[in-house]
Order: sequence, then structure tokens, then C-alpha cells
Amino acid sequence: MKVFIGSAEQVAKEAAKRYVELLNKKPNAVLGYATGSTPLGLYSELIRLNQAGAFSYKEATTFNLDEYVGLDGSHDQSYRYFMNENLFNHVDIDKSRTFVPSGLDTSAETAAAYDEAIEKAGGIDIQLLGIGNNGHIGFNEPGTPFSSKTHMVELTQNTREVNSRFFKSIDEVPTHAVTMGVKTVMNAKSIILIALGKAKAPIIRETIMGEVTPEVPASVLQLHPFVEIYLDEEAASLL
Ligand code: GLP
Repeated sequence: MKVFIGSAEQVAKEAAKRYVELLNKKPNAVLGYATGSTPLGLYSELIRLNQAGAFSYKEATTFNLDEYVGLDGSHDQSYRYFMNENLFNHVDIDKSRTFVPSGLDTSAETAAAYDEAIEKAGGIDIQLLGIGNNGHIGFNEPGTPFSSKTHMVELTQNTREVNSRFFKSIDEVPTHAVTMGVKTVMNAKSIILIALGKAKAPIIRETIMGEVTPEVPASVLQLHPFVEIYLDEEAASLL
């Protein structure tokens, strides 16, 4: 694992460089994207660089990690809406090649089709990840088998509470989500995980220095050959 530590701004700039390099070398790259507050700085930087002509998304394909069950893409808390608002609407991407799991069709067939679509596109070149306070990646909560592919999950009470800050009340936070599995994530050719802020420091320590266990889903990254972890000083404070 390579670990980069800097200010949140430096993290966004350094991580953005990976995308500029990749897309200039391989314009039809396949990108795994993530939601949450953590990637927002990176997305702003990517928008800036894309608009400045540093790289193009025209031939790229994207697959998002997860989506809430029950929310359609027009719902302002759906992850499809998030991606459109925070990245896709501002760059030269072909939206028909941006994929987010369906929050409405939760069948096992549709989940399997998501993994197949990733494989058919050639596999993910860079998978971006944030991390939950309990070590979840995507919505793979503690205990999720490392062999899991895209599937529906029940969100933990803790995750619903943490994410309720974006909703009017906790009752509105969906109880389930569809997420790429741990295996889907690990199949990516390279992975970038970003963590910012003091609240993430304990789980970052466990992820990087702790035991590899499904109880800390992100710890599986220790087994991947190409992982870069970008941290601000606060998230890195317990390393
Ligand atoms: C959500 C998402 C994750 C994300 C995590 C952390 O539950 N499903 O993909 O990494 O929360 O969110 P934040 O970046 O807002 O801390």
C-alpha cells in the first residue's frame, strides 16, 4: 500500500493526477466512482481540470459503487443524483456510459448483470473508495464475505444514523442498499481510498495496520497489489 498524507486540498490534487495520467494514457478507461462527502474535493478538482482541457472523459465509462434501495435517480439523496450534480453534469462525459446500481430493481439477476457489465467493459482501472467509520467500503458492512459480488444489503443502524445528516430525519434514510461486493472492488486493477478528518483516524489505523478480517471490510485492501491511500493529517493521526 502506498500512503499519501497532506492537506485535504493536496489530497484532492494528488488523487486527481492519477485520473489525468490514466485518461491521457487510456482515454477509454473504466472508472469506479464513489459518493459521500470525502470525494467532493477530488470531484471539484477533476471538474476544474476537465474544463481546463487537461483530460477528457469522452470515451470513459464509469461504474458507481452503490445506490440506496427505493430511491430513483431523480431523488436528491440518490447516488445517481449525487454523481450528476457533483461530477457528470460538469464534465465532457457521455452520460449513457455512466452506471450506478439500480435502487429500484434489486433482483439478483440485475445485480449479477452489474458485475458482468463491469467485466464486459474491460474491468475497472481505478476504483475510488471512501470509508465508513466501521470500515465499510461501498455499503459492504462488517461481516460481508470477501467473496461477495454486487448484492443488496441491509444497512446497519450506525450507517443509517451517520448518513441521516443528509436526510430530513432518520426515518427517511433507506434501510437497504445495492452495492458492489468486496470481490467486485478487489477485482479493480488499482484502488484509491481517500479518508479525511479525525473521525476516520481509528478505522484507518485498523485498515492499514490491523488484522485482515471481514469484520473490517476495508482491511481486505492489504491483499490488493495496487492500492493508494490518501489521507489528511487528521485521518492519518493514529498511524
Ligand atoms: C457512505 C457510502 C460510502 C462512503 C461512506 C463514507 O455510506 N456508501 O461509499 O465511503 O459513506 O462517507 P463520507 O465520505 O461522507 O464520510
